[in-house]
Amino acid sequence: MSDTASPHEGSPVRLIPNTPVALIEIDNPPVNATSRHVRSGLLAAIQEVGRNPQIGAAVIACAGRTFVAGADIREFGRPPQEPHLPDVINAIEACSKPVVAAVHGTALGGGCEIALACHARVAEPGAGFGLPEVKLGLVPGAGGTQRLPRLVGLEAALDLVTSGRTVKAAEALRLGLIDQLSTADLRQDAMDLARDLIGRPLRRTGECAVTPLDAATASAKVADIHRKARGAQAPGRAAELVLLSASLPLQDGMTRERETFLELRSSAQSAALRHAFFAEREVTRLPGIDSVEPRPVQKIGIVGAGTMGSGIAIAFADAGFDVKVVEASEQALAAGQARITDVYDKQVQSGRITAAARDERLQAIEYEVGISSLSDRDLVIEAVFEDLDVKRALFRDLDEILPPGTILATNTSYLDINLIAAVTSRPADVVGLHFFSPANVMKLLEIVRTDRTAADVVATGLSLAKRLRKIPVVCRVCDGFVGNRILSRYRLQAEYLLEEGALPHEVDAALEAFGFPMGPFAVSDLAGLDIAWARRKRLAPTRDPRERYVDIADRLCEAGRFGRKTGAGWYRYDGGKREVDPFVTELVEEASRRRGLTRRSISADEIQSRIRAAIVNEACKILDERIVERPLDVDVVMMHGYGYPAWRGGPLFEADSVGLRPILDTVNERAERDGPGWEPADGLVSRAASGATFYP
Ligand code: 3HC
Repeated sequence: MSDTASPHEGSPVRLIPNTPVALIEIDNPPVNATSRHVRSGLLAAIQEVGRNPQIGAAVIACAGRTFVAGADIREFGRPPQEPHLPDVINAIEACSKPVVAAVHGTALGGGCEIALACHARVAEPGAGFGLPEVKLGLVPGAGGTQRLPRLVGLEAALDLVTSGRTVKAAEALRLGLIDQLSTADLRQDAMDLARDLIGRPLRRTGECAVTPLDAATASAKVADIHRKARGAQAPGRAAELVLLSASLPLQDGMTRERETFLELRSSAQSAALRHAFFAEREVTRLPGIDSVEPRPVQKIGIVGAGTMGSGIAIAFADAGFDVKVVEASEQALAAGQARITDVYDKQVQSGRITAAARDERLQAIEYEVGISSLSDRDLVIEAVFEDLDVKRALFRDLDEILPPGTILATNTSYLDINLIAAVTSRPADVVGLHFFSPANVMKLLEIVRTDRTAADVVATGLSLAKRLRKIPVVCRVCDGFVGNRILSRYRLQAEYLLEEGALPHEVDAALEAFGFPMGPFAVSDLAGLDIAWARRKRLAPTRDPRERYVDIADRLCEAGRFGRKTGAGWYRYDGGKREVDPFVTELVEEASRRRGLTRRSISADEIQSRIRAAIVNEACKILDERIVERPLDVDVVMMHGYGYPAWRGGPLFEADSVGLRPILDTVNERAERDGPGWEPADGLVSRAASGATFYP
């Protein structure tokens, strides 16, 4: 190795001018984002490579955990500063000497764009490539929409750019995105390739031709992209740019791309999605918990192998834990084992995992009858029938057999965990771990601390969530915690809308147009109406008689309509497709008659603002009661557990831009009509009066 030459003293980019292949190393923790000093350092380094006669080629590699993970998102709120990334990247492509990217970790956004502009790419098998800009409400801004199709073709580029998904190195190789996998020494392999390229004609990505799609295929693809985007504007804009690469020279395409990038960068959607990005990370940082050491956990016990228990077992097995699932009988255990095996078989069939990975994960799960075999576990989660007495009895038994220090978790969705913890001799070790169904897919995890949960148990919940790759939100005990409590409120409001004149498909359509993947009635058909019915029956004796209660769902259940699984619920499902059912329309109209209401036509706008008001008001009550500490906790729950459109930033982020006064007006109106439970939250009233916002 020869001397190190920094482009500038203290620059995060070092040029090590080895001959004949120089190394350009970017070192900008934590993720090597292309902040201004990286851009200027990289430009200076590439200029030096071009200039220095001793250097025949260069490799761009990164220090630390990853290749460049993109532009520095924290700079997006500020005016762009020179040198701009597209210019730096163009300089790499234009370099007269071969430049090879050596990729470990993930090459995302601007990082992927750097790699695309190199003359060849080598990656470790574990490396990933992606243009996730649409997830931030943006399009790639440094040539990604123009160079990617030149390497992988239009169809693959449309898929990658508009979904923002990351592809692993093997797929990237198949697609033509990279040239070589490195199974030994990444940097050495990249150096060897760079040396081979010296003196040979350089393959400049920007000069490659793109085969156009025929017009019908292109417009069908664009229509599909718009449909999947559910109101997010970036994917459609990105698709237009990708398609342009077939007809415009690189620089013209890049000019269009840059204009779109800068326009979207200052859009409300991008601000919301950036909020979502940072909120997802901020939820894991809790005052008082941050510095607490979690307990070591590797052996997990799961009591109950129903839908939830099985999903939880899969989530843990996928993350490399040792899992033991127990059931009360051989029969229930066998059914659970079959359910888990079936999920993995389907994943193999769809190509998501290999047969070997399935076998390995299945081997990580043991099955036993009875809880006595759980005594060697570090943490036990119960996922049994949602009944306080059943859970209390189970916790009493678990408390007797589990050694001190073992954490006892409940997956209850509504019950008072203080009452469950109270039957044990170790209430400090009891916590709620509320997974969402399907537990191996849904990202959200509510970590519910009781009045007595120990700080290191909460810290353990957070560290488990990280290993499970879930997004945790820590909250306190209340009926339904954060998500289900808010859901119950807005579901009620949706039912009031039915009584007043809307039909289920109109409410669903309005909320799907708002950006939810599914409206509440379609969701309830999917989840099944019977569980909520059982809960309503249980709560009936304690319900406030002054509360406005809608019984349409009860009547559907009485008619045996439990949703999709019975072929009918709020809709009917002939051949699996949801269809409006005159039977339901009749039930709804009859409910209006019984309530003495004259049905009226209700606009999508009214539906959306009433639902929004119900959500924001309940969220404020949750904040008032300190169930969570911060508005961002609510936003993250709603986006990751309930499909609240991320491009709106979650209900409270959005409320700031809608204005709290109109939301409060809607809440006041509902309080007058709908009675107890609909009173405006103190925090909403005071914020609206003072002009304060949720996010100052
Ligand atoms: N800019 C600024 N900060 C970033 C960042 C970025 N692009 N990416 C990650 N960070 C920060 C995170 O906020 C976090 O900071 P914190 O510790 O203070 O909370 C830290 O880096 C570590 O990030 P994660 O906790 O997410 O670490 P992981 O290891 O779980 O994930 C990652 C790493 C896969 C790189 C993930 O952070 C990620 O997906 N980052 C975003 C990548 C992205 O969207 N890139 C595109 C940016 S837009 C762009 O490039 C425009 C271009 O086309 C011009």
